[in-house]
Amino acid sequence: MTYSDGMPVLEARLPTGRYDMIIETGVLERAGELVRQVAPHEQALLVVDSAVVNTAGVVVGAALESAGYRAVTVPLDASERFKTIDTVERVYGVMLEARLERGSPVIALGGGLVGDVAGFVAATYLRGVPVIQVPTTLLAMVDASIGGKTGVNHALPHGGLGKNLIGAFWQPRRIIADPVTLRTLSERDLRCGLAECVKHGVIADPSLLQFIAGSAEAIAARDEAVLAELIARSAQIKITIIEQDEREDANRALLNLGHTFAHAIEPIETLDLRHGEAVAIGLCAAMHCAVSTGSMSSGDAETVTSLLQRLGLPTRLPSSVAAAPLVARMRYDKKVRDGQLRLVLPCGIGTAKIVETDEPVIVDALHGIGAAP
Ligand SMILES: NC(=O)c1ccc[n+]([C@@H]2O[C@H](COP(=O)([O-])OP(=O)(O)OC[C@H]3O[C@@H](n4cnc5c(N)ncnc54)[C@H](O)[C@@H]3O)[C@@H](O)[C@H]2O)c1
Repeated sequence: MTYSDGMPVLEARLPTGRYDMIIETGVLERAGELVRQVAPHEQALLVVDSAVVNTAGVVVGAALESAGYRAVTVPLDASERFKTIDTVERVYGVMLEARLERGSPVIALGGGLVGDVAGFVAATYLRGVPVIQVPTTLLAMVDASIGGKTGVNHALPHGGLGKNLIGAFWQPRRIIADPVTLRTLSERDLRCGLAECVKHGVIADPSLLQFIAGSAEAIAARDEAVLAELIARSAQIKITIIEQDEREDANRALLNLGHTFAHAIEPIETLDLRHGEAVAIGLCAAMHCAVSTGSMSSGDAETVTSLLQRLGLPTRLPSSVAAAPLVARMRYDKKVRDGQLRLVLPCGIGTAKIVETDEPVIVDALHGIGAAP
């Protein structure tokens, strides 16, 4: 990590190229020149989350214009229902109408949903145009904007929506994160981002957990200096992991700690959980497995669980949820190999590993976090 005017600048060095992540209070006002440095052109497409179209959207639109871009703006509603190929096609239509060219950058301004859709548009329009990720949720700043995964949902053959089934790896030219944008984020969405920060701490950095515990009030009050440090420390963990494994052939899967459980829990409609909330519960289930298989002490698991609770995140399931259907859903996880479930489990606080895990251990963990037999 380096610093510019006291603010952190991170760098991702990947086999397919390098890019930086600038984290700075008020940086959106300079977004135009920062885009121009990495993707100079006359035109640009600004894909903007409807929630920030009248705030950050105005700032970035003006910054692009003063840097000499003719920018076309497309607002998108951040709903998983609209994270589809239909939306992507609609954006292609706008781009063709405006005659955007191979060099015209796409600026993805919003949460992870807008980042994924705009990133996929950029990956595929004219076989690929530059994308600059400008995340406006904590989750997108510490996770979704980093690493080049882009994509949309698709209907499953027998009903329901399959998440992120269609997509591409397409790394951004730059990531620009302005903590000011988090002022308007709902408390619930802030908590969801914090769940991913806690996950990063458990995977790789015990001191990040101490930082979060010591800064919980300042984070809730949206103290921008504290948020900048939180974003930088948490994002750095993701960057370090993707630098070792850009395409999730090996260690990138460690970022899925808690997610095998979370993906099974999240679709339960009666629980009405956001992804980050399901991750918090999934993290607790993974820690149960780790305690029962001897890779984590119950004291460490208790420390992390208490932190999640203090942040206002759920850590248990209601007894109306049964373990067996959850395990059946977990069998669809992409880490399953030859029918054997493989989970990311913590080894104490600060490292994690992928472990073949027997079903009774998983069932026991689900009971441990409240699921009915
Ligand atoms: N590509 C990846 O590596 C990756 C990783 C994790 C998650 N994701 C994807 O990211 C999405 C989740 O991202 P998310 O948690 O950012 O959710 P989101 O994009 O759905 O945003 C959450 C809500 O916050 C609103 N919002 C965004 N910025 C705001 C702001 N500054 N002020 C007020 N409201 C604001 C949005 O309109 C939305 O209602 C999912 O679609 C998930 O699949 C992708």
